[in-house]
Amino acid sequence: MIGQPRDDLYLNGEFMPLASGQISVQDRGFQFADGVYEVVRFKGSRFLWLDEHLARLERGLTALAIPGVGSRDRFTRVLPELVRRSGSGEGSIYLQVTRGPAPRDFSMPTSAVPTELAYVAPQTFFTWDQVLAGTTACLMEDIRWTRCDIKAICLTAAVLGKAVAAERGASEVIWVGPDRLVREGGSCNLFVVRGGEVWTHPADRHILAGVTRLRVLEIARESGVVVREEPVTAEELLVADEVFLSSTLRDLLPILRVDGRPIGRGQAGPVSLRLAERMRAVVDRELSADG
Ligand code: PDD
Repeated sequence: MIGQPRDDLYLNGEFMPLASGQISVQDRGFQFADGVYEVVRFKGSRFLWLDEHLARLERGLTALAIPGVGSRDRFTRVLPELVRRSGSGEGSIYLQVTRGPAPRDFSMPTSAVPTELAYVAPQTFFTWDQVLAGTTACLMEDIRWTRCDIKAICLTAAVLGKAVAAERGASEVIWVGPDRLVREGGSCNLFVVRGGEVWTHPADRHILAGVTRLRVLEIARESGVVVREEPVTAEELLVADEVFLSSTLRDLLPILRVDGRPIGRGQAGPVSLRLAERMRAVVDRELSADG
């Protein structure tokens, strides 16, 4: 029927229009940011690296001792149906599991039933011209916690960081540790090209082990580029040849200016572009119906 809202939300076992979703005000996600999330890209009936995203979701649930029994299998079954019902051809899916509703108490409730949801956000992704145009970033002290390896829904620091970036006329924030080591971006992983080699922070507790990050490293190695999972300092980043980021929503994107200063020549560099080109081919293959 024309005008009938599509079912673009899955919430606790049911499909419904996003606007119809209701969650308890006592949900632990709402009151304590007590939950984990994922963002997954899709096109048609294909999902980009879904298994890896759901594996990370499961690791997060285990780390937070949230009894998301069966979440991974359920999402695997439910997401294709959700995309079908939404009628969307391309976009991302946001999925979240929280510890569920319980009377407000810091101690973990024993009987809460986790809240599970996923919704479809139709969108298109970066064109090659946008990749060439790159993006900008600013450096900021990392004000996040020391379990950034968990994709927790507590994103207050990232919200503040992105606001600071916007104030400074930049699109992304780059978190710098107290040791001046560069960690990652507000919602992306970070790579620095020095002397033809790609440097990135090791996947420890200071960064999220991005699904895209792993593909960047694979692609770089396949392309014969030396990869070092070692951090660089903020000062080293500013004089690097190239800097780029990776994330589900931005693939691989060159960063052309940091703190208003051009990186290298202030244009997308050869290593970034070679890897970005290769990444697009890999993503296109994964998302194509016969991929
Ligand atoms: N963010 N680091 C942080 C802090 C992130 O929030 C993200 C992703 C990444 C990249 O991870 P992946 O390649 O698996 O998307 C790294 C998502 C996209 C978001 O919050 O919207």
